Amino acid sequence: MSVFRASSEQLMNANDMSTKKTNKSCGWSSHHVLVTLLLVCLIDLLKIPKGEAEVIAPEEEDILKILQESFNLPGWVGDPCQPGAVDWIICYDPPRGPNSVERIYLNGRNLRGGIPDAMLNLRNVSVIDFSGNNLTGPIPDLSNMTSLTKVNFDFNTLSGSFPNMSGLHDITEITLKKNNIRGTVPASLFQHRSLKTLLMSENVLLSGQLPKMDQLTNLTRLELESCALNGTIPASIGSATKLNILYFGLESAFGASTRPQFVNGPSVVVSVLSTPAADSDAGNNTLTGPLPTFENARQLYKVQLHSNDMNGTIPRGIFQQNNLQYFRVDHNPSLSGQLPAQGSRLTKLIDFYVSDCNLTGPVPDYVEKWAQVNVM
Ligand SMILES: *[C@@H]1O[C@H](CO)[C@@H](O)[C@H](O)[C@H]1NC(C)=O
Ligand SMILES: *[C@@H]1O[C@H](CO)[C@@H](O)[C@H](O)[C@H]1NC(C)=O
Ligand SMILES: *[C@@H]1O[C@H](CO)[C@@H](O)[C@H](O)[C@H]1NC(C)=O
Ligand SMILES: *[C@@H]1O[C@H](CO)[C@@H](O)[C@H](O)[C@H]1NC(C)=O
Ligand SMILES: *[C@@H]1O[C@H](CO)[C@@H](O)[C@H](O)[C@H]1NC(C)=O
Ligand SMILES: *[C@@H]1O[C@H](CO)[C@@H](O)[C@H](O)[C@H]1NC(C)=O
Repeated sequence: MSVFRASSEQLMNANDMSTKKTNKSCGWSSHHVLVTLLLVCLIDLLKIPKGEAEVIAPEEEDILKILQESFNLPGWVGDPCQPGAVDWIICYDPPRGPNSVERIYLNGRNLRGGIPDAMLNLRNVSVIDFSGNNLTGPIPDLSNMTSLTKVNFDFNTLSGSFPNMSGLHDITEITLKKNNIRGTVPASLFQHRSLKTLLMSENVLLSGQLPKMDQLTNLTRLELESCALNGTIPASIGSATKLNILYFGLESAFGASTRPQFVNGPSVVVSVLSTPAADSDAGNNTLTGPLPTFENARQLYKVQLHSNDMNGTIPRGIFQQNNLQYFRVDHNPSLSGQLPAQGSRLTKLIDFYVSDCNLTGPVPDYVEKWAQVNVM
Protein backbone atom coordinates (compact mmCIF):
# COMPACT_ATOMS: atom_id res chain seq x y z
CA MET A 1 0.00 0.00 0.00
CA SER A 2 2.74 2.46 0.95
CA VAL A 3 4.35 2.01 -2.44
CA PHE A 4 1.11 2.78 -4.15
CA ARG A 5 0.38 5.93 -2.12
CA ALA A 6 3.86 7.33 -2.74
CA SER A 7 3.49 6.69 -6.41
CA SER A 8 0.22 8.58 -6.74
CA GLU A 9 1.74 11.62 -4.98
CA GLN A 10 4.75 11.58 -7.25
CA LEU A 11 2.42 11.22 -10.12
CA MET A 12 0.49 14.37 -9.17
CA ASN A 13 3.71 16.36 -8.93
CA ALA A 14 4.88 15.09 -12.27
CA ASN A 15 1.54 15.95 -13.76
CA ASP A 16 1.63 19.57 -12.44
CA MET A 17 5.14 20.13 -13.70
CA SER A 18 4.59 18.78 -17.15
CA THR A 19 1.35 20.71 -17.63
CA LYS A 20 3.12 23.97 -16.74
CA LYS A 21 6.03 23.24 -19.02
CA THR A 22 3.79 22.42 -21.96
CA ASN A 23 1.70 25.51 -21.53
CA LYS A 24 4.74 27.79 -21.29
CA SER A 25 6.73 26.57 -24.28
CA CYS A 26 5.21 25.57 -27.57
CA GLY A 27 2.09 24.44 -29.47
CA TRP A 28 0.62 21.85 -27.14
CA SER A 29 -1.14 19.12 -29.03
CA SER A 30 1.71 16.83 -30.15
CA HIS A 31 3.62 17.53 -26.94
CA HIS A 32 0.54 16.72 -24.97
CA VAL A 33 0.47 13.30 -26.58
CA LEU A 34 4.15 12.79 -25.82
CA VAL A 35 3.71 13.85 -22.21
CA THR A 36 0.74 11.54 -21.85
CA LEU A 37 2.83 8.65 -23.18
CA LEU A 38 5.63 9.50 -20.78
CA LEU A 39 3.16 9.62 -17.92
CA VAL A 40 1.74 6.26 -18.85
CA CYS A 41 5.29 4.85 -18.79
CA LEU A 42 5.95 6.55 -15.46
CA ILE A 43 2.83 5.04 -13.93
CA ASP A 44 3.88 1.59 -15.10
CA LEU A 45 7.40 2.00 -13.75
CA LEU A 46 6.12 3.13 -10.36
CA LYS A 47 3.83 0.13 -10.12
CA ILE A 48 6.68 -2.36 -10.37
CA PRO A 49 7.51 -3.57 -6.85
CA LYS A 50 11.08 -2.91 -5.78
CA GLY A 51 13.12 -5.23 -3.58
CA GLU A 52 11.42 -5.93 -0.26
CA ALA A 53 8.38 -3.83 -1.12
CA GLU A 54 5.11 -5.21 0.17
CA VAL A 55 2.88 -6.14 -2.73
CA ILE A 56 0.23 -8.28 -1.06
CA ALA A 57 -2.80 -6.36 0.21
CA PRO A 58 -2.11 -5.74 3.94
CA GLU A 59 -5.48 -7.18 4.96
CA GLU A 60 -4.64 -10.42 3.17
CA GLU A 61 -1.26 -10.60 4.88
CA ASP A 62 -3.01 -10.12 8.24
CA ILE A 63 -5.25 -13.09 7.49
CA LEU A 64 -2.25 -15.21 6.51
CA LYS A 65 -0.68 -14.30 9.87
CA ILE A 66 -3.80 -15.51 11.66
CA LEU A 67 -3.62 -18.83 9.81
CA GLN A 68 0.11 -19.07 10.48
CA GLU A 69 -0.36 -18.50 14.21
CA SER A 70 -3.45 -20.72 14.56
CA PHE A 71 -1.67 -23.66 12.99
CA ASN A 72 1.86 -22.89 14.12
CA LEU A 73 3.16 -22.71 10.56
CA PRO A 74 6.55 -21.27 9.56
CA GLY A 75 6.67 -17.47 9.23
CA TRP A 76 8.03 -15.35 6.40
CA VAL A 77 10.08 -12.23 5.74
CA GLY A 78 8.99 -9.57 3.27
CA ASP A 79 6.22 -10.24 0.81
CA PRO A 80 4.50 -13.60 1.40
CA CYS A 81 3.56 -13.70 -2.28
CA GLN A 82 7.20 -13.87 -3.39
CA PRO A 83 7.83 -17.38 -4.73
CA GLY A 84 9.05 -19.63 -1.94
CA ALA A 85 8.31 -17.16 0.88
CA VAL A 86 5.39 -19.19 2.22
CA ASP A 87 5.22 -22.77 1.03
CA TRP A 88 1.49 -23.15 1.66
CA ILE A 89 0.12 -20.40 -0.53
CA ILE A 90 0.24 -19.53 -4.20
CA CYS A 91 -0.64 -15.98 -5.23
CA TYR A 92 -2.10 -14.68 -8.45
CA ASP A 93 0.44 -13.46 -10.97
CA PRO A 94 1.12 -9.74 -10.65
CA PRO A 95 -0.54 -8.62 -13.93
CA ARG A 96 -3.89 -9.16 -12.24
CA GLY A 97 -3.16 -6.24 -9.93
CA PRO A 98 -1.82 -6.24 -6.41
CA ASN A 99 -0.90 -9.74 -5.38
CA SER A 100 -3.66 -11.71 -3.79
CA VAL A 101 -3.78 -15.27 -2.49
CA GLU A 102 -5.06 -17.66 -5.13
CA ARG A 103 -4.52 -21.09 -3.53
CA ILE A 104 -4.02 -22.41 -0.01
CA TYR A 105 -2.41 -25.85 0.38
CA LEU A 106 -2.46 -26.97 4.00
CA ASN A 107 -2.89 -30.68 3.32
CA GLY A 108 -1.14 -33.37 5.36
CA ARG A 109 0.37 -31.08 8.01
CA ASN A 110 -1.08 -32.66 11.10
CA LEU A 111 -3.06 -29.49 11.80
CA ARG A 112 -5.34 -29.49 14.83
CA GLY A 113 -8.24 -27.34 15.92
CA GLY A 114 -10.85 -25.51 13.92
CA ILE A 115 -10.74 -23.64 10.63
CA PRO A 116 -10.23 -19.95 11.48
CA ASP A 117 -13.13 -17.75 10.34
CA ALA A 118 -10.57 -15.16 9.25
CA MET A 119 -9.92 -17.30 6.17
CA LEU A 120 -13.39 -16.39 4.90
CA ASN A 121 -12.15 -12.90 4.07
CA LEU A 122 -9.60 -14.17 1.56
CA ARG A 123 -12.24 -13.56 -1.04
CA ASN A 124 -10.12 -14.11 -4.13
CA VAL A 125 -9.01 -17.60 -3.15
CA SER A 126 -9.79 -20.21 -5.77
CA VAL A 127 -8.45 -23.43 -4.24
CA ILE A 128 -8.31 -24.56 -0.60
CA ASP A 129 -6.89 -27.91 0.43
CA PHE A 130 -7.02 -28.87 4.10
CA SER A 131 -7.12 -32.63 3.51
CA GLY A 132 -5.42 -35.20 5.74
CA ASN A 133 -5.20 -33.26 9.01
CA ASN A 134 -6.89 -33.55 12.39
CA LEU A 135 -9.18 -30.59 12.00
CA THR A 136 -12.29 -30.49 14.14
CA GLY A 137 -15.38 -28.32 14.47
CA PRO A 138 -17.69 -27.17 11.71
CA ILE A 139 -16.75 -26.05 8.22
CA PRO A 140 -17.54 -22.32 8.23
CA ASP A 141 -20.02 -20.66 5.89
CA LEU A 142 -18.02 -20.30 2.66
CA SER A 143 -20.62 -18.31 0.76
CA ASN A 144 -18.51 -15.13 0.64
CA MET A 145 -15.49 -16.86 -0.91
CA THR A 146 -17.06 -16.43 -4.29
CA SER A 147 -13.92 -17.22 -6.32
CA LEU A 148 -13.65 -20.77 -4.96
CA THR A 149 -13.40 -23.48 -7.59
CA LYS A 150 -12.04 -26.40 -5.55
CA VAL A 151 -12.33 -27.23 -1.86
CA ASN A 152 -10.82 -30.30 -0.26
CA PHE A 153 -11.40 -31.20 3.39
CA ASP A 154 -10.96 -34.99 3.02
CA PHE A 155 -9.72 -37.08 5.95
CA ASN A 156 -10.33 -34.82 8.94
CA THR A 157 -12.84 -34.95 11.79
CA LEU A 158 -14.89 -31.97 10.74
CA SER A 159 -18.44 -32.00 12.02
CA GLY A 160 -21.62 -29.97 11.80
CA SER A 161 -23.88 -29.72 8.81
CA PHE A 162 -22.86 -29.26 5.21
CA PRO A 163 -21.36 -25.74 4.85
CA ASN A 164 -23.23 -22.99 3.05
CA MET A 165 -21.74 -22.70 -0.42
CA SER A 166 -24.56 -20.82 -2.05
CA GLY A 167 -22.47 -17.95 -3.45
CA LEU A 168 -19.89 -20.19 -5.10
CA HIS A 169 -20.90 -19.92 -8.73
CA ASP A 170 -17.62 -21.29 -10.12
CA ILE A 171 -17.26 -24.28 -7.84
CA THR A 172 -16.22 -27.43 -9.69
CA GLU A 173 -14.91 -29.77 -7.02
CA ILE A 174 -16.00 -30.41 -3.43
CA THR A 175 -14.42 -33.23 -1.51
CA LEU A 176 -15.30 -33.98 2.10
CA LYS A 177 -14.55 -37.69 2.34
CA LYS A 178 -14.16 -39.25 5.77
CA ASN A 179 -15.37 -36.56 8.14
CA ASN A 180 -18.32 -36.35 10.50
CA ILE A 181 -20.61 -34.14 8.47
CA ARG A 182 -24.20 -34.73 9.53
CA GLY A 183 -27.64 -33.78 8.32
CA THR A 184 -28.80 -33.91 4.75
CA VAL A 185 -27.20 -32.89 1.47
CA PRO A 186 -28.65 -29.37 1.01
CA ALA A 187 -30.71 -28.73 -2.10
CA SER A 188 -28.69 -25.55 -2.73
CA LEU A 189 -25.57 -27.66 -3.30
CA PHE A 190 -27.24 -29.38 -6.23
CA GLN A 191 -28.05 -26.03 -7.82
CA HIS A 192 -24.39 -25.59 -8.82
CA ARG A 193 -24.33 -26.23 -12.53
CA SER A 194 -20.54 -25.84 -12.44
CA LEU A 195 -20.07 -28.82 -10.12
CA LYS A 196 -18.04 -31.67 -11.65
CA THR A 197 -16.90 -33.66 -8.66
CA LEU A 198 -18.64 -34.30 -5.34
CA LEU A 199 -17.00 -36.76 -2.99
CA MET A 200 -18.62 -37.26 0.39
CA SER A 201 -18.09 -40.94 1.19
CA GLU A 202 -17.64 -42.02 4.79
CA ASN A 203 -19.62 -39.33 6.50
CA VAL A 204 -21.58 -41.84 8.49
CA LEU A 205 -24.13 -39.31 9.75
CA LEU A 206 -24.94 -37.81 6.36
CA SER A 207 -28.53 -38.88 5.96
CA GLY A 208 -31.87 -38.45 4.28
CA GLN A 209 -33.02 -38.10 0.72
CA LEU A 210 -30.77 -36.71 -2.03
CA PRO A 211 -32.07 -33.46 -3.56
CA LYS A 212 -33.12 -33.07 -7.18
CA MET A 213 -30.23 -33.31 -9.60
CA ASP A 214 -31.56 -31.62 -12.71
CA GLN A 215 -29.00 -28.77 -12.52
CA LEU A 216 -26.00 -31.10 -12.26
CA THR A 217 -25.39 -31.26 -15.98
CA ASN A 218 -21.61 -31.11 -15.63
CA LEU A 219 -21.26 -33.66 -12.87
CA THR A 220 -18.82 -36.44 -13.74
CA ARG A 221 -18.06 -38.02 -10.39
CA LEU A 222 -20.33 -38.55 -7.41
CA GLU A 223 -19.26 -40.63 -4.42
CA LEU A 224 -21.47 -41.15 -1.39
CA GLU A 225 -20.31 -44.48 -0.01
CA SER A 226 -20.82 -45.41 3.61
CA CYS A 227 -23.10 -42.57 4.56
CA ALA A 228 -26.59 -42.90 6.02
CA LEU A 229 -28.58 -41.83 3.00
CA ASN A 230 -32.01 -43.25 2.41
CA GLY A 231 -34.88 -42.63 0.05
CA THR A 232 -34.50 -42.99 -3.69
CA ILE A 233 -31.97 -41.84 -6.24
CA PRO A 234 -33.78 -38.90 -7.87
CA ALA A 235 -34.88 -39.66 -11.41
CA SER A 236 -33.36 -36.27 -12.32
CA ILE A 237 -29.97 -37.96 -12.10
CA GLY A 238 -30.73 -38.51 -15.78
CA SER A 239 -29.74 -34.85 -16.32
CA ALA A 240 -26.21 -35.64 -15.23
CA THR A 241 -25.35 -36.92 -18.66
CA LYS A 242 -21.62 -36.61 -18.14
CA LEU A 243 -21.65 -38.74 -15.04
CA ASN A 244 -19.07 -41.44 -15.24
CA ILE A 245 -18.64 -42.51 -11.66
CA LEU A 246 -21.40 -43.10 -9.20
CA TYR A 247 -20.97 -44.70 -5.80
CA PHE A 248 -23.61 -45.19 -3.23
CA GLY A 249 -22.56 -48.57 -1.97
CA LEU A 250 -21.40 -49.67 1.41
CA GLU A 251 -17.66 -49.58 1.80
CA SER A 252 -15.66 -49.80 4.93
CA ALA A 253 -13.23 -47.19 6.11
CA PHE A 254 -9.84 -47.94 4.70
CA GLY A 255 -6.67 -45.91 4.77
CA ALA A 256 -5.70 -43.19 2.34
CA SER A 257 -3.02 -45.28 0.68
CA THR A 258 -5.50 -47.91 -0.42
CA ARG A 259 -8.08 -45.45 -1.68
CA PRO A 260 -8.74 -45.69 -5.39
CA GLN A 261 -6.79 -43.10 -7.33
CA PHE A 262 -8.44 -41.40 -10.26
CA VAL A 263 -6.49 -39.18 -12.58
CA ASN A 264 -8.28 -37.19 -15.24
CA GLY A 265 -11.07 -39.49 -16.14
CA PRO A 266 -11.75 -43.04 -17.05
CA SER A 267 -8.85 -44.06 -19.22
CA VAL A 268 -6.21 -43.75 -16.55
CA VAL A 269 -7.76 -45.31 -13.49
CA VAL A 270 -5.20 -47.05 -11.39
CA SER A 271 -6.85 -49.09 -8.70
CA VAL A 272 -9.80 -51.20 -7.82
CA LEU A 273 -11.82 -51.06 -4.65
CA SER A 274 -10.94 -53.33 -1.76
CA THR A 275 -13.48 -55.76 -0.47
CA PRO A 276 -15.47 -54.25 2.36
CA ALA A 277 -14.18 -55.40 5.71
CA ALA A 278 -16.23 -55.58 8.88
CA ASP A 279 -16.00 -52.16 10.45
CA SER A 280 -18.39 -50.81 13.00
CA ASP A 281 -17.69 -47.25 11.84
CA ALA A 282 -18.84 -47.89 8.31
CA GLY A 283 -21.97 -46.00 7.38
CA ASN A 284 -24.91 -47.68 5.83
CA ASN A 285 -26.88 -46.20 3.00
CA THR A 286 -30.25 -47.79 2.45
CA LEU A 287 -31.45 -46.47 -0.85
CA THR A 288 -34.73 -47.81 -2.10
CA GLY A 289 -36.60 -47.60 -5.38
CA PRO A 290 -35.32 -48.38 -8.85
CA LEU A 291 -31.81 -48.20 -10.25
CA PRO A 292 -31.32 -45.11 -12.43
CA THR A 293 -31.82 -45.91 -16.11
CA PHE A 294 -28.69 -43.99 -17.19
CA GLU A 295 -30.26 -43.66 -20.61
CA ASN A 296 -28.58 -40.31 -21.39
CA ALA A 297 -25.24 -41.05 -19.75
CA ARG A 298 -22.77 -41.76 -22.51
CA GLN A 299 -19.55 -42.10 -20.56
CA LEU A 300 -20.65 -44.28 -17.72
CA TYR A 301 -17.62 -46.00 -16.39
CA LYS A 302 -18.26 -47.13 -12.85
CA VAL A 303 -21.50 -47.79 -11.03
CA GLN A 304 -21.52 -49.01 -7.45
CA LEU A 305 -24.91 -49.26 -5.83
CA HIS A 306 -24.35 -52.45 -3.89
CA SER A 307 -25.66 -53.15 -0.38
CA ASN A 308 -28.78 -51.06 -0.60
CA ASP A 309 -32.42 -52.03 -0.82
CA MET A 310 -33.17 -51.08 -4.39
CA ASN A 311 -35.82 -52.90 -6.37
CA GLY A 312 -37.07 -53.28 -9.90
CA THR A 313 -34.86 -54.73 -12.62
CA ILE A 314 -31.40 -53.95 -14.00
CA PRO A 315 -32.08 -51.36 -16.71
CA ARG A 316 -31.39 -52.57 -20.26
CA GLY A 317 -29.49 -49.34 -20.95
CA ILE A 318 -26.65 -50.55 -18.75
CA PHE A 319 -25.85 -53.22 -21.33
CA GLN A 320 -25.40 -50.53 -24.00
CA GLN A 321 -22.72 -48.65 -22.02
CA ASN A 322 -19.59 -49.48 -23.93
CA ASN A 323 -17.30 -47.61 -21.52
CA LEU A 324 -18.60 -49.32 -18.41
CA GLN A 325 -15.86 -51.12 -16.52
CA TYR A 326 -17.25 -51.59 -13.03
CA PHE A 327 -20.82 -52.49 -12.25
CA ARG A 328 -21.78 -53.48 -8.72
CA VAL A 329 -25.37 -53.85 -7.63
CA ASP A 330 -24.86 -56.94 -5.47
CA HIS A 331 -26.61 -57.22 -2.10
CA ASN A 332 -29.83 -55.56 -3.16
CA PRO A 333 -32.14 -58.44 -2.21
CA SER A 334 -35.21 -57.06 -4.01
CA LEU A 335 -33.51 -56.42 -7.33
CA SER A 336 -35.21 -58.84 -9.68
CA GLY A 337 -35.73 -59.82 -13.29
CA GLN A 338 -33.38 -61.33 -15.84
CA LEU A 339 -30.22 -60.26 -17.58
CA PRO A 340 -30.98 -59.63 -21.28
CA ALA A 341 -30.39 -62.78 -23.32
CA GLN A 342 -28.28 -60.95 -25.91
CA GLY A 343 -27.19 -57.56 -27.21
CA SER A 344 -24.66 -56.70 -24.54
CA ARG A 345 -22.09 -54.08 -25.58
CA LEU A 346 -20.15 -54.34 -22.36
CA THR A 347 -16.76 -54.96 -23.91
CA LYS A 348 -14.58 -53.17 -21.36
CA LEU A 349 -15.92 -54.76 -18.20
CA ILE A 350 -13.66 -55.56 -15.29
CA ASP A 351 -16.19 -56.18 -12.49
CA PHE A 352 -19.79 -57.25 -12.86
CA TYR A 353 -21.32 -58.03 -9.45
CA VAL A 354 -24.96 -59.03 -9.22
CA SER A 355 -24.85 -61.58 -6.42
CA ASP A 356 -27.31 -61.59 -3.52
CA CYS A 357 -30.04 -60.08 -5.61
CA ASN A 358 -33.22 -61.82 -6.70
CA LEU A 359 -32.31 -62.29 -10.35
CA THR A 360 -33.80 -65.17 -12.25
CA GLY A 361 -33.41 -66.83 -15.63
CA PRO A 362 -30.44 -68.35 -17.44
CA VAL A 363 -26.91 -66.94 -17.47
CA PRO A 364 -26.61 -65.33 -20.93
CA ASP A 365 -23.99 -66.51 -23.43
CA TYR A 366 -22.08 -63.25 -23.45
CA VAL A 367 -21.25 -63.66 -19.77
CA GLU A 368 -19.31 -66.80 -20.72
CA LYS A 369 -17.22 -64.66 -23.09
CA TRP A 370 -16.24 -62.15 -20.41
CA ALA A 371 -12.98 -63.98 -19.92
CA GLN A 372 -11.25 -61.20 -18.01
CA VAL A 373 -14.26 -60.17 -15.98
CA ASN A 374 -14.83 -60.77 -12.30
CA VAL A 375 -18.40 -61.98 -12.28
CA MET A 376 -20.28 -62.57 -9.08
C1 LIG B 1 -9.67 -9.64 -5.57
O1 LIG B 1 -11.07 -9.39 -5.50
C2 LIG B 1 -11.43 -8.05 -5.67
C3 LIG B 1 -12.93 -7.94 -5.54
O2 LIG B 1 -13.41 -8.75 -4.52
C4 LIG B 1 -10.96 -7.54 -7.01
O3 LIG B 1 -11.23 -6.16 -7.11
C5 LIG B 1 -9.48 -7.78 -7.17
O4 LIG B 1 -9.08 -7.46 -8.47
C6 LIG B 1 -9.16 -9.22 -6.91
N1 LIG B 1 -7.73 -9.43 -7.01
C7 LIG B 1 -7.20 -10.40 -7.70
C8 LIG B 1 -5.73 -10.48 -7.67
O5 LIG B 1 -7.87 -11.21 -8.30
C1 LIG C 1 -20.22 -11.89 3.95
O1 LIG C 1 -19.85 -10.56 3.71
C2 LIG C 1 -20.78 -9.63 4.20
C3 LIG C 1 -20.37 -8.24 3.72
O2 LIG C 1 -19.00 -8.09 3.68
C4 LIG C 1 -20.85 -9.73 5.70
O3 LIG C 1 -21.78 -8.81 6.22
C5 LIG C 1 -21.28 -11.14 6.07
O4 LIG C 1 -21.27 -11.30 7.46
C6 LIG C 1 -20.35 -12.15 5.44
N1 LIG C 1 -20.89 -13.47 5.67
C7 LIG C 1 -20.14 -14.52 6.04
C8 LIG C 1 -20.87 -15.78 6.22
O5 LIG C 1 -18.94 -14.45 6.25
C1 LIG D 1 -26.15 -19.03 2.61
O1 LIG D 1 -25.52 -17.89 2.10
C2 LIG D 1 -26.37 -17.08 1.33
C3 LIG D 1 -25.52 -15.99 0.71
O2 LIG D 1 -24.63 -15.46 1.61
C4 LIG D 1 -27.50 -16.55 2.18
O3 LIG D 1 -28.37 -15.76 1.43
C5 LIG D 1 -28.27 -17.73 2.78
O4 LIG D 1 -29.24 -17.27 3.69
C6 LIG D 1 -27.31 -18.67 3.50
N1 LIG D 1 -28.02 -19.88 3.88
C7 LIG D 1 -27.93 -20.41 5.09
C8 LIG D 1 -28.70 -21.66 5.30
O5 LIG D 1 -27.27 -19.90 5.99
C1 LIG E 1 -34.63 -41.40 6.06
O1 LIG E 1 -33.99 -41.13 7.27
C2 LIG E 1 -34.55 -40.04 8.01
C3 LIG E 1 -33.73 -39.85 9.23
O2 LIG E 1 -32.40 -39.72 8.89
C4 LIG E 1 -36.00 -40.35 8.36
O3 LIG E 1 -36.56 -39.23 9.02
C5 LIG E 1 -36.78 -40.66 7.10
O4 LIG E 1 -38.08 -41.07 7.43
C6 LIG E 1 -36.08 -41.76 6.32
N1 LIG E 1 -36.78 -41.93 5.04
C7 LIG E 1 -37.00 -43.11 4.49
C8 LIG E 1 -37.67 -43.08 3.15
O5 LIG E 1 -36.66 -44.14 5.03
C1 LIG F 1 -40.01 -50.64 -5.07
O1 LIG F 1 -40.18 -50.29 -3.72
C2 LIG F 1 -41.08 -49.22 -3.49
C3 LIG F 1 -41.11 -48.96 -2.02
O2 LIG F 1 -39.83 -48.69 -1.54
C4 LIG F 1 -42.46 -49.57 -4.04
O3 LIG F 1 -43.31 -48.44 -3.87
C5 LIG F 1 -42.37 -49.92 -5.50
O4 LIG F 1 -43.61 -50.37 -5.97
C6 LIG F 1 -41.35 -51.05 -5.69
N1 LIG F 1 -41.18 -51.27 -7.11
C7 LIG F 1 -41.08 -52.48 -7.63
C8 LIG F 1 -40.90 -52.56 -9.12
O5 LIG F 1 -41.14 -53.50 -6.94
C1 LIG G 1 -37.94 -62.44 -5.90
O1 LIG G 1 -38.59 -62.56 -7.16
C2 LIG G 1 -39.76 -63.33 -7.13
C3 LIG G 1 -40.35 -63.39 -8.53
O2 LIG G 1 -39.34 -63.61 -9.46
C4 LIG G 1 -40.80 -62.72 -6.21
O3 LIG G 1 -41.91 -63.53 -6.09
C5 LIG G 1 -40.17 -62.49 -4.82
O4 LIG G 1 -41.08 -61.80 -4.01
C6 LIG G 1 -38.90 -61.73 -4.96
N1 LIG G 1 -38.25 -61.56 -3.68
C7 LIG G 1 -37.90 -60.36 -3.18
C8 LIG G 1 -37.20 -60.36 -1.86
O5 LIG G 1 -38.12 -59.31 -3.77
